[in-house]
Formats: sequence, structure tokens, C-alpha cells
Amino acid sequence: MKKIVIAIDGYSACGKSTTAREVASILGYRYIDSGAMYRAVTLFFLDKHISLTNPKEIERTLEQIHLAFHVNAHGTTELFMNGINVEKSIRKMRVSENVSPVSTLKEVRHAMVAQQRKLGKDKGIVMDGRDIGTVVFPQAELKLFLTADIQVRAFRRQQELLEKDKLVDFHTIIANLTDRDRIDSNRKESPLIKASDAIEMNTTHITIDEQVDEVVRLAVGKIVRRS
Ligand code: CDP
Repeated sequence: MKKIVIAIDGYSACGKSTTAREVASILGYRYIDSGAMYRAVTLFFLDKHISLTNPKEIERTLEQIHLAFHVNAHGTTELFMNGINVEKSIRKMRVSENVSPVSTLKEVRHAMVAQQRKLGKDKGIVMDGRDIGTVVFPQAELKLFLTADIQVRAFRRQQELLEKDKLVDFHTIIANLTDRDRIDSNRKESPLIKASDAIEMNTTHITIDEQVDEVVRLAVGKIVRRS
């Protein structure tokens, strides 16, 4: 069977990561959470107090960051930064509140996109993010663009954080999602926009299972046509 690249883009907390992870598992593909990479860079910058206005310092710092995805015993892909599992620390509000400004930086984007392209060179990959179908893999065989009402997105994100024992006020979440959407959509370098050939899915009234089924159905259609 020929392998394809599946790009899933869209706004924060639309269920991109959950959908991408499950679709990858059903198809036996690799799942890459590109947002986790931007979150890890943000964590490193915060810990080292890196100025976002000094391009030389940003470039030097990026050279010190080594990112690698490993699959754990439960089959879940986790991100390691310089040998340390950062899956938990990158989901904290401190990182969520700083990741979009860091993600506007040209140096950061170039470094991440180069790594993401390497990860996808053999296809058989599902990657989610903001610019996967537009910049990282413009030739992806299947592109999805996810949207959902802000209230539903905030509720889902609050539940997700609660499952990780983190109680975050609903209005703080709404403010963070709205802020990130605004910065992500308006930045100069690879803004969040729907690729012209992406299929838009509004996930407000559908369950994750329905979302996953639909993406798998579309993917199988593409795979069969290519084989
Ligand atoms: O999971 P959630 O929707 O909260 O966001 P994420 O996928 O973890 O991404 C966190 C942030 O990283 C986004 O708000 C963007 O600022 C940035 N990002 C990006 O610029 N490009 C990507 N391909 C993925 C994420």
C-alpha cells in the first residue's frame, strides 16, 4: 500500500491532536504533534530567559535544543527535549501563554519546519499544527482544517487539563485560546490559514469518534486511489 501524508491544521483546541493521534494509530502511521515542538522551544526560552528580540541569541539558543519523538509502552508518542520527557511541562499555562509570540519568530519557524519535513520524508505520517498543509507539506495528499465554536473548544480544553489534575478557570482558557488564534492568524511568517485544497471540518457538534471515522474514511479513499 502506498503511504500518504495527512496534514491537520486549525485553531487551538479543536481536537486536532486527539484526531491525529487516533487516525495515525488506526492507519499504523507516525503521529507528530508540531505544536509540541513550538511548546518545547518556548519552555526552553522561558527557562533560559531568552530575549525574543535578539535574532543572534535566538539562533544560538535553537542550536542547543534537540527534539525527538519517542513512542512509550502504551503506544503514545511523547516529545523529549535534550533527552528529557517534556510532555507534561509543555502543557502548563505558563507555556500556553508564551507559545504564540515565540512561534512568530522567523528563526524558530525555519528550524522547526526543517525538522518536520525530515520527519515526514518517508510519508506514512499524520502531523497536526497551524501551517502543515500550507508550508510544511504543501503536497500532502490529505489536508484537513478544523474549526469549532470557542465555548466548546474552551470546555474541551478545560476537561483535558482537568484530566491532568490541572484546574484552570474557564475565562482564562477562553482568553488564552482567543489570544493565540489572533496571534497565529495574523503573524507574518506562515500564518494560520486554510490551504485552498484543505477540507474544512467544523467539530462543534461531532464527537471525537465521528471526527476520527471521517478522517480515516477520507484517508483510505486517498490511499486506495494511490495504490
Ligand atoms: O493543542 P493546542 O491547540 O493548544 O495548540 P498546539 O498545537 O499545542 O500549538 C501551540 C502553539 O504553537 C500554537 O498556538 C501556535 O502558536 C504554535 N504552532 C505553530 O505556530 N505552528 C504549528 N505548526 C503548530 C503550533
